[in-house]
Amino acid sequence: MDKAKFLVSGKEYEFPLLNGTENEVAVDIRKLRESTGLITYDPGYGNTGSCRSAITFIDGDNGILRYRGYPIEELAGQIRFSAAAYLMVYGRLPSESEFLEWRKQLTLNSFVHASQVNFFDNYSALAHPMNILSSMVSSMSAFYPYDAEDESDIDLHIRRLIGQVKTIAAFSYRKSVGLPYIYPRTDHSYAANFLRMMFATPAEEYVVPKVMENALDMLLILHMDHEQNCSTSTVRMVASSMSNIYASVSAGISALWGRLHGGANEAVLNMLQRISEDGGNVSKYVELAKKKDDPFRLMGFGHRVYKNFDPRSRILKKAVDDVFNEMGIHDPLLGVARELEDVALKDDFFIQRKLYPNVDFYSGILYRALGIPTEMFTVLFAIGRMPGWIAHWLEMRADPDLRIQRPRQIYIGETKRHYEKNDTFL
Ligand code: ACO
Repeated sequence: MDKAKFLVSGKEYEFPLLNGTENEVAVDIRKLRESTGLITYDPGYGNTGSCRSAITFIDGDNGILRYRGYPIEELAGQIRFSAAAYLMVYGRLPSESEFLEWRKQLTLNSFVHASQVNFFDNYSALAHPMNILSSMVSSMSAFYPYDAEDESDIDLHIRRLIGQVKTIAAFSYRKSVGLPYIYPRTDHSYAANFLRMMFATPAEEYVVPKVMENALDMLLILHMDHEQNCSTSTVRMVASSMSNIYASVSAGISALWGRLHGGANEAVLNMLQRISEDGGNVSKYVELAKKKDDPFRLMGFGHRVYKNFDPRSRILKKAVDDVFNEMGIHDPLLGVARELEDVALKDDFFIQRKLYPNVDFYSGILYRALGIPTEMFTVLFAIGRMPGWIAHWLEMRADPDLRIQRPRQIYIGETKRHYEKNDTFL
Protein backbone atom coordinates (compact mmCIF):
# COMPACT_ATOMS: atom_id res chain seq x y z
CA MET A 1 0.00 0.00 0.00
CA ASP A 2 1.55 3.30 -1.02
CA LYS A 3 -1.54 5.55 -0.90
CA ALA A 4 -4.17 6.52 1.69
CA LYS A 5 -7.73 7.06 0.45
CA PHE A 6 -10.11 9.55 2.09
CA LEU A 7 -13.81 9.87 1.30
CA VAL A 8 -14.89 13.52 1.57
CA SER A 9 -18.58 14.32 0.86
CA GLY A 10 -18.85 11.22 -1.33
CA LYS A 11 -15.73 11.99 -3.37
CA GLU A 12 -12.57 9.87 -3.04
CA TYR A 13 -9.15 11.46 -2.65
CA GLU A 14 -5.77 9.72 -2.62
CA PHE A 15 -2.73 10.85 -0.69
CA PRO A 16 0.77 9.37 -0.85
CA LEU A 17 2.34 7.56 2.09
CA LEU A 18 5.80 8.35 3.43
CA ASN A 19 7.91 5.56 4.94
CA GLY A 20 10.62 5.91 7.58
CA THR A 21 13.55 3.53 8.04
CA GLU A 22 11.95 1.97 11.18
CA ASN A 23 8.62 1.05 9.51
CA GLU A 24 6.63 4.05 10.61
CA VAL A 25 4.28 5.38 7.95
CA ALA A 26 2.79 8.86 7.52
CA VAL A 27 0.09 10.20 5.20
CA ASP A 28 1.55 13.04 3.19
CA ILE A 29 -1.23 15.63 3.36
CA ARG A 30 0.65 18.55 1.83
CA LYS A 31 -1.98 18.76 -0.94
CA LEU A 32 -4.96 18.20 1.40
CA ARG A 33 -6.26 21.77 1.55
CA GLU A 34 -5.54 22.45 -2.11
CA SER A 35 -7.43 19.36 -3.29
CA THR A 36 -10.23 19.03 -0.69
CA GLY A 37 -10.53 22.47 0.96
CA LEU A 38 -10.06 20.77 4.35
CA ILE A 39 -7.43 21.26 7.00
CA THR A 40 -6.53 18.95 9.92
CA TYR A 41 -7.26 19.59 13.62
CA ASP A 42 -4.70 18.09 16.01
CA PRO A 43 -4.22 20.10 19.24
CA GLY A 44 -0.88 19.21 20.83
CA TYR A 45 0.20 17.68 17.47
CA GLY A 46 -0.09 14.12 18.83
CA ASN A 47 -0.75 12.79 15.29
CA THR A 48 1.26 15.26 13.26
CA GLY A 49 4.69 14.64 11.78
CA SER A 50 6.29 18.05 11.29
CA CYS A 51 9.45 16.89 9.49
CA ARG A 52 11.58 13.99 8.35
CA SER A 53 14.51 13.55 10.72
CA ALA A 54 17.58 11.28 10.86
CA ILE A 55 18.65 12.22 14.39
CA THR A 56 16.72 10.29 17.05
CA PHE A 57 14.41 7.29 16.91
CA ILE A 58 11.86 6.56 19.65
CA ASP A 59 9.55 3.56 19.86
CA GLY A 60 7.31 4.57 22.74
CA ASP A 61 5.45 1.25 22.93
CA ASN A 62 8.64 -0.73 23.38
CA GLY A 63 10.71 1.78 25.37
CA ILE A 64 13.34 2.25 22.64
CA LEU A 65 15.49 5.37 22.28
CA ARG A 66 18.37 5.65 19.79
CA TYR A 67 20.62 8.57 18.87
CA ARG A 68 21.82 8.37 15.27
CA GLY A 69 21.03 4.63 15.39
CA TYR A 70 22.89 3.87 18.66
CA PRO A 71 20.75 2.54 21.57
CA ILE A 72 20.80 4.95 24.52
CA GLU A 73 22.00 2.09 26.75
CA GLU A 74 25.20 1.86 24.66
CA LEU A 75 25.95 5.59 24.98
CA ALA A 76 24.85 6.80 28.44
CA GLY A 77 27.48 5.77 30.99
CA GLN A 78 29.72 4.41 28.21
CA ILE A 79 31.13 7.45 26.39
CA ARG A 80 31.97 11.05 27.29
CA PHE A 81 29.40 13.82 26.84
CA SER A 82 31.57 15.64 24.29
CA ALA A 83 31.85 12.47 22.11
CA ALA A 84 28.05 12.05 22.21
CA ALA A 85 27.66 15.75 21.37
CA TYR A 86 29.86 15.27 18.29
CA LEU A 87 27.77 12.27 17.26
CA MET A 88 24.59 14.26 17.72
CA VAL A 89 25.74 17.30 15.75
CA TYR A 90 27.72 15.63 12.95
CA GLY A 91 25.91 12.27 12.70
CA ARG A 92 28.90 9.99 13.44
CA LEU A 93 31.27 9.24 16.31
CA PRO A 94 34.58 11.14 16.11
CA SER A 95 37.99 9.54 15.51
CA GLU A 96 40.45 9.92 18.41
CA SER A 97 42.12 13.00 16.89
CA GLU A 98 38.74 14.56 16.01
CA PHE A 99 37.54 13.91 19.55
CA LEU A 100 40.60 15.52 21.18
CA GLU A 101 40.41 18.57 18.91
CA TRP A 102 36.64 18.94 19.39
CA ARG A 103 36.97 18.69 23.19
CA LYS A 104 39.75 21.29 23.16
CA GLN A 105 37.72 23.61 20.95
CA LEU A 106 34.68 23.30 23.21
CA THR A 107 36.85 24.47 26.12
CA LEU A 108 38.62 27.25 24.19
CA ASN A 109 35.21 28.58 23.13
CA SER A 110 33.64 28.30 26.55
CA PHE A 111 34.68 31.71 27.92
CA VAL A 112 31.73 34.05 28.27
CA HIS A 113 32.46 37.37 26.51
CA ALA A 114 34.04 39.68 29.10
CA SER A 115 31.37 42.38 28.56
CA GLN A 116 28.63 39.81 28.94
CA VAL A 117 30.04 38.66 32.28
CA ASN A 118 28.94 42.05 33.68
CA PHE A 119 25.32 41.06 32.97
CA PHE A 120 25.36 38.70 35.93
CA ASP A 121 25.63 41.73 38.27
CA ASN A 122 22.35 43.15 37.05
CA TYR A 123 19.89 40.29 37.34
CA SER A 124 17.54 40.48 40.29
CA ALA A 125 18.49 38.21 43.18
CA LEU A 126 15.12 36.54 42.52
CA ALA A 127 15.95 35.64 38.90
CA HIS A 128 15.54 31.94 38.14
CA PRO A 129 18.69 30.45 36.54
CA MET A 130 16.62 29.37 33.49
CA ASN A 131 15.64 32.99 33.02
CA ILE A 132 19.31 34.01 33.15
CA LEU A 133 20.31 31.19 30.78
CA SER A 134 17.77 31.98 28.07
CA SER A 135 18.55 35.71 28.06
CA MET A 136 22.34 35.18 28.18
CA VAL A 137 22.17 32.74 25.25
CA SER A 138 19.92 35.11 23.33
CA SER A 139 22.38 37.99 23.83
CA MET A 140 25.32 35.91 22.56
CA SER A 141 24.32 36.91 19.02
CA ALA A 142 24.92 40.55 20.02
CA PHE A 143 28.54 39.72 20.85
CA TYR A 144 29.46 37.34 18.04
CA PRO A 145 28.87 38.77 14.55
CA TYR A 146 26.33 36.61 12.79
CA ASP A 147 25.45 36.75 9.14
CA ALA A 148 22.22 34.85 8.48
CA GLU A 149 22.94 35.01 4.73
CA ASP A 150 26.39 33.43 5.11
CA GLU A 151 26.56 30.70 7.70
CA SER A 152 30.00 29.39 6.73
CA ASP A 153 31.24 30.00 10.30
CA ILE A 154 28.34 28.04 11.84
CA ASP A 155 30.76 25.48 13.37
CA LEU A 156 32.29 28.25 15.48
CA HIS A 157 28.85 29.33 16.73
CA ILE A 158 28.09 25.68 17.57
CA ARG A 159 31.28 25.31 19.62
CA ARG A 160 30.49 28.56 21.43
CA LEU A 161 26.97 27.44 22.27
CA ILE A 162 27.95 24.02 23.60
CA GLY A 163 31.04 25.45 25.32
CA GLN A 164 29.44 28.50 26.91
CA VAL A 165 26.12 27.08 28.07
CA LYS A 166 27.86 25.33 30.97
CA THR A 167 29.93 28.42 31.82
CA ILE A 168 26.83 30.62 31.91
CA ALA A 169 25.10 28.03 34.11
CA ALA A 170 28.02 27.79 36.55
CA PHE A 171 28.54 31.56 36.67
CA SER A 172 24.87 32.20 37.47
CA TYR A 173 25.23 29.80 40.40
CA ARG A 174 28.53 31.36 41.58
CA LYS A 175 26.94 34.80 41.40
CA SER A 176 23.91 33.66 43.42
CA VAL A 177 26.14 32.40 46.26
CA GLY A 178 28.68 35.25 46.03
CA LEU A 179 31.67 33.16 44.96
CA PRO A 180 34.28 34.25 42.39
CA TYR A 181 34.02 32.79 38.89
CA ILE A 182 36.24 29.84 37.96
CA TYR A 183 37.20 29.32 34.32
CA PRO A 184 37.41 25.99 32.43
CA ARG A 185 40.67 24.18 31.54
CA THR A 186 41.61 22.16 28.45
CA ASP A 187 42.94 19.25 30.56
CA HIS A 188 39.46 18.59 31.98
CA SER A 189 36.51 16.85 30.37
CA TYR A 190 33.31 18.79 29.71
CA ALA A 191 31.58 17.38 32.80
CA ALA A 192 34.67 17.81 35.01
CA ASN A 193 34.99 21.43 33.92
CA PHE A 194 31.38 22.12 34.83
CA LEU A 195 31.78 20.56 38.29
CA ARG A 196 35.01 22.49 38.85
CA MET A 197 33.40 25.78 37.81
CA MET A 198 30.52 25.05 40.21
CA PHE A 199 32.38 23.82 43.26
CA ALA A 200 36.10 24.75 43.24
CA THR A 201 37.43 27.69 45.25
CA PRO A 202 40.57 29.68 44.36
CA ALA A 203 41.96 28.77 47.80
CA GLU A 204 42.81 25.14 47.07
CA GLU A 205 43.18 22.53 44.34
CA TYR A 206 39.86 20.89 43.48
CA VAL A 207 40.05 17.30 42.31
CA VAL A 208 36.84 16.39 40.50
CA PRO A 209 35.52 13.12 41.99
CA LYS A 210 35.41 10.51 39.19
CA VAL A 211 32.09 9.16 40.35
CA MET A 212 30.54 12.64 40.00
CA GLU A 213 32.14 13.27 36.59
CA ASN A 214 30.87 9.94 35.25
CA ALA A 215 27.38 10.45 36.67
CA LEU A 216 27.14 13.91 35.12
CA ASP A 217 28.35 12.64 31.74
CA MET A 218 25.62 10.00 31.85
CA LEU A 219 22.92 12.48 32.89
CA LEU A 220 23.82 14.94 30.15
CA ILE A 221 23.79 12.21 27.48
CA LEU A 222 20.41 10.90 28.66
CA HIS A 223 18.96 14.38 28.10
CA MET A 224 20.68 15.06 24.77
CA ASP A 225 17.78 14.60 22.37
CA HIS A 226 14.23 13.36 22.22
CA GLU A 227 13.12 14.09 18.65
CA GLN A 228 10.23 16.57 18.20
CA ASN A 229 9.51 17.42 21.85
CA CYS A 230 8.20 20.86 22.90
CA SER A 231 11.56 22.68 23.17
CA THR A 232 13.05 21.12 20.02
CA SER A 233 9.92 21.93 18.04
CA THR A 234 10.23 25.48 19.38
CA VAL A 235 13.83 25.69 18.14
CA ARG A 236 12.67 24.44 14.72
CA MET A 237 9.71 26.83 14.65
CA VAL A 238 11.93 29.85 15.34
CA ALA A 239 14.64 28.62 12.96
CA SER A 240 12.07 28.29 10.17
CA SER A 241 11.79 32.08 9.96
CA MET A 242 15.58 32.16 9.36
CA SER A 243 16.31 33.46 12.87
CA ASN A 244 19.88 32.94 14.00
CA ILE A 245 20.97 29.89 16.00
CA TYR A 246 21.36 31.78 19.30
CA ALA A 247 17.82 33.22 19.10
CA SER A 248 16.39 29.82 18.10
CA VAL A 249 18.09 27.94 20.93
CA SER A 250 17.22 30.63 23.48
CA ALA A 251 13.53 30.13 22.60
CA GLY A 252 14.04 26.38 23.14
CA ILE A 253 15.43 27.08 26.63
CA SER A 254 12.28 29.06 27.47
CA ALA A 255 10.08 26.20 26.25
CA LEU A 256 12.07 23.70 28.30
CA TRP A 257 11.55 25.71 31.48
CA GLY A 258 7.83 24.82 31.79
CA ARG A 259 6.94 22.26 34.46
CA LEU A 260 5.22 19.93 31.97
CA HIS A 261 8.55 19.66 30.11
CA GLY A 262 12.11 20.08 31.51
CA GLY A 263 10.87 22.05 34.52
CA ALA A 264 9.38 18.79 35.79
CA ASN A 265 12.73 17.74 37.34
CA GLU A 266 12.62 20.71 39.74
CA ALA A 267 8.89 20.10 40.33
CA VAL A 268 9.56 16.43 41.20
CA LEU A 269 12.03 17.36 43.91
CA ASN A 270 9.65 19.95 45.36
CA MET A 271 6.86 17.35 45.28
CA LEU A 272 9.00 14.72 47.07
CA GLN A 273 9.98 17.31 49.67
CA ARG A 274 6.32 18.23 50.20
CA ILE A 275 5.32 14.58 50.62
CA SER A 276 8.20 13.99 53.01
CA GLU A 277 7.33 17.04 55.14
CA ASP A 278 3.70 15.86 55.16
CA GLY A 279 4.67 12.62 56.90
CA GLY A 280 5.62 10.60 53.80
CA ASN A 281 2.05 9.51 53.04
CA VAL A 282 2.49 8.72 49.33
CA SER A 283 -0.98 7.19 48.90
CA LYS A 284 -2.56 10.53 49.80
CA TYR A 285 -0.71 12.19 46.91
CA VAL A 286 -1.44 9.38 44.46
CA GLU A 287 -5.13 9.87 45.28
CA LEU A 288 -4.79 13.64 44.88
CA ALA A 289 -3.18 13.20 41.44
CA LYS A 290 -6.26 11.25 40.28
CA LYS A 291 -8.73 14.00 41.21
CA LYS A 292 -9.97 15.83 38.12
CA ASP A 293 -10.86 18.97 40.09
CA ASP A 294 -7.37 19.29 41.62
CA PRO A 295 -4.48 20.64 39.51
CA PHE A 296 -1.96 18.36 41.31
CA ARG A 297 -0.30 15.75 39.08
CA LEU A 298 2.43 13.27 39.88
CA MET A 299 5.40 15.15 38.52
CA GLY A 300 7.90 12.96 36.66
CA PHE A 301 5.09 10.61 35.62
CA GLY A 302 3.56 10.19 32.17
CA HIS A 303 4.83 10.91 28.69
CA ARG A 304 3.32 11.79 25.33
CA VAL A 305 5.32 9.11 23.51
CA TYR A 306 6.34 6.42 26.05
CA LYS A 307 3.38 4.16 26.82
CA ASN A 308 5.34 1.30 28.35
CA PHE A 309 8.46 2.60 30.10
CA ASP A 310 10.91 5.42 29.57
CA PRO A 311 14.33 3.78 28.98
CA ARG A 312 16.06 6.87 30.39
CA SER A 313 14.25 6.45 33.68
CA ARG A 314 15.34 2.79 33.91
CA ILE A 315 19.00 3.75 33.38
CA LEU A 316 18.68 6.52 35.95
CA LYS A 317 17.03 4.36 38.58
CA LYS A 318 19.96 1.94 38.45
CA ALA A 319 22.52 4.76 38.32
CA VAL A 320 21.05 6.32 41.48
CA ASP A 321 21.69 3.04 43.36
CA ASP A 322 25.25 2.75 42.02
CA VAL A 323 26.21 6.37 42.68
CA PHE A 324 24.64 6.44 46.13
CA ASN A 325 26.52 3.27 47.09
CA GLU A 326 29.81 4.57 45.75
CA MET A 327 29.42 7.97 47.41
CA GLY A 328 28.02 6.47 50.62
CA ILE A 329 24.96 8.71 50.44
CA HIS A 330 21.58 8.21 52.06
CA ASP A 331 18.74 10.49 50.94
CA PRO A 332 15.31 10.06 52.56
CA LEU A 333 13.70 11.53 49.41
CA LEU A 334 14.89 8.47 47.45
CA GLY A 335 12.78 6.29 49.74
CA VAL A 336 9.76 8.54 49.12
CA ALA A 337 10.35 8.38 45.33
CA ARG A 338 10.59 4.57 45.32
CA GLU A 339 7.45 4.17 47.39
CA LEU A 340 5.57 6.66 45.22
CA GLU A 341 6.59 4.74 42.09
CA ASP A 342 5.51 1.41 43.64
CA VAL A 343 2.10 2.70 44.71
CA ALA A 344 1.38 4.52 41.41
CA LEU A 345 2.44 1.58 39.22
CA LYS A 346 -0.05 -0.68 41.02
CA ASP A 347 -2.90 1.83 40.75
CA ASP A 348 -5.57 1.27 38.05
CA PHE A 349 -5.69 4.96 37.14
CA PHE A 350 -1.99 4.94 36.19
CA ILE A 351 -2.11 1.45 34.63
CA GLN A 352 -5.06 2.31 32.37
CA ARG A 353 -3.51 5.59 31.22
CA LYS A 354 -0.08 3.97 30.79
CA LEU A 355 1.62 6.47 33.08
CA TYR A 356 5.19 5.49 34.00
CA PRO A 357 8.11 7.39 35.57
CA ASN A 358 9.79 9.58 32.95
CA VAL A 359 13.37 10.89 32.77
CA ASP A 360 12.62 13.61 35.31
CA PHE A 361 11.49 11.29 38.08
CA TYR A 362 14.94 10.16 39.27
CA SER A 363 17.22 12.76 37.66
CA GLY A 364 16.65 15.31 40.45
CA ILE A 365 17.63 12.81 43.15
CA LEU A 366 20.91 12.26 41.32
CA TYR A 367 21.56 15.98 40.73
CA ARG A 368 20.96 16.50 44.44
CA ALA A 369 23.56 13.84 45.26
CA LEU A 370 26.04 15.76 43.08
CA GLY A 371 25.36 18.92 45.10
CA ILE A 372 23.40 20.72 42.36
CA PRO A 373 20.80 23.08 43.86
CA THR A 374 17.17 22.30 42.96
CA GLU A 375 16.58 25.48 40.91
CA MET A 376 19.54 24.47 38.68
CA PHE A 377 18.07 21.09 37.68
CA THR A 378 16.37 22.34 34.51
CA VAL A 379 19.54 24.26 33.61
CA LEU A 380 21.40 20.93 33.67
CA PHE A 381 18.76 19.52 31.34
CA ALA A 382 19.37 22.47 28.97
CA ILE A 383 23.15 21.85 28.98
CA GLY A 384 22.55 18.23 27.99
CA ARG A 385 19.93 19.15 25.38
CA MET A 386 22.06 21.81 23.64
CA PRO A 387 23.70 19.44 21.06
CA GLY A 388 20.24 18.03 20.26
CA TRP A 389 18.76 21.47 19.59
CA ILE A 390 21.75 22.31 17.41
CA ALA A 391 21.45 19.06 15.43
CA HIS A 392 17.79 19.83 14.72
CA TRP A 393 18.57 23.42 13.77
CA LEU A 394 21.21 22.21 11.27
CA GLU A 395 18.99 19.46 9.89
CA MET A 396 16.12 21.84 9.38
CA ARG A 397 18.20 24.44 7.58
CA ALA A 398 19.46 21.75 5.18
CA ASP A 399 15.98 20.28 4.58
CA PRO A 400 14.80 20.74 0.97
CA ASP A 401 11.20 20.70 2.34
CA LEU A 402 11.91 23.70 4.63
CA ARG A 403 9.09 26.25 4.72
CA ILE A 404 8.34 28.80 7.40
CA GLN A 405 6.27 26.96 10.04
CA ARG A 406 2.82 28.41 10.04
CA PRO A 407 -0.09 26.21 11.20
CA ARG A 408 -3.69 27.03 10.33
CA GLN A 409 -6.65 27.27 12.73
CA ILE A 410 -10.39 26.73 13.03
CA TYR A 411 -11.77 30.22 13.71
CA ILE A 412 -14.48 30.10 16.42
CA GLY A 413 -14.88 33.85 17.13
CA GLU A 414 -17.62 36.30 16.19
CA THR A 415 -18.82 36.26 12.60
CA LYS A 416 -18.85 39.60 10.78
CA ARG A 417 -20.47 42.43 12.76
CA HIS A 418 -20.45 46.24 12.50
CA TYR A 419 -19.17 49.06 14.64
CA GLU A 420 -22.07 51.31 15.75
CA LYS A 421 -21.24 55.02 15.32
CA ASN A 422 -23.33 56.03 18.36
CA ASP A 423 -20.74 54.52 20.73
CA THR A 424 -19.52 58.12 21.23
CA PHE A 425 -17.28 57.39 24.22
CA LEU A 426 -14.95 55.55 21.83
N1 ACO B 1 -0.39 12.56 37.09
C1 ACO B 1 -1.72 12.30 37.06
N2 ACO B 1 -2.43 12.13 35.93
C2 ACO B 1 -1.78 12.24 34.77
C3 ACO B 1 -0.40 12.51 34.70
C4 ACO B 1 0.30 12.68 35.91
N3 ACO B 1 1.61 12.93 35.91
N4 ACO B 1 -0.01 12.58 33.40
C5 ACO B 1 -1.11 12.34 32.67
N5 ACO B 1 -2.18 12.14 33.48
C6 ACO B 1 -3.55 11.78 33.07
C7 ACO B 1 -4.30 12.99 32.54
O1 ACO B 1 -5.03 13.62 33.57
C8 ACO B 1 -5.20 12.35 31.50
O2 ACO B 1 -6.27 11.72 32.18
P1 ACO B 1 -7.73 11.65 31.46
O3 ACO B 1 -7.54 10.79 30.22
O4 ACO B 1 -8.61 11.01 32.49
O5 ACO B 1 -8.12 13.05 31.14
C9 ACO B 1 -4.33 11.24 30.91
O6 ACO B 1 -3.41 10.88 31.96
C10 ACO B 1 -3.54 11.66 29.65
O7 ACO B 1 -2.77 12.81 30.00
P2 ACO B 1 -2.48 14.01 29.00
O8 ACO B 1 -2.19 15.24 29.80
O9 ACO B 1 -3.55 14.11 27.97
O10 ACO B 1 -1.16 13.50 28.29
P3 ACO B 1 -0.15 14.36 27.43
O11 ACO B 1 0.50 13.43 26.51
O12 ACO B 1 -0.84 15.56 26.85
O13 ACO B 1 0.88 14.93 28.53
C11 ACO B 1 2.67 15.00 30.07
C12 ACO B 1 2.10 14.34 28.81
C13 ACO B 1 2.67 16.53 29.91
C14 ACO B 1 4.11 14.54 30.26
C15 ACO B 1 1.81 14.58 31.29
O14 ACO B 1 1.89 13.18 31.48
C16 ACO B 1 2.22 15.31 32.58
O15 ACO B 1 1.70 16.39 32.86
N6 ACO B 1 3.16 14.71 33.38
C17 ACO B 1 3.67 15.41 34.56
C18 ACO B 1 4.75 16.42 34.16
C19 ACO B 1 6.03 15.75 33.71
O16 ACO B 1 6.53 14.84 34.36
N7 ACO B 1 6.59 16.25 32.61
C20 ACO B 1 7.86 15.76 32.06
C21 ACO B 1 7.65 15.01 30.79
S1 ACO B 1 9.18 14.35 30.17
C22 ACO B 1 9.95 15.69 29.52
O17 ACO B 1 9.38 16.61 29.02
C23 ACO B 1 11.35 15.73 29.59
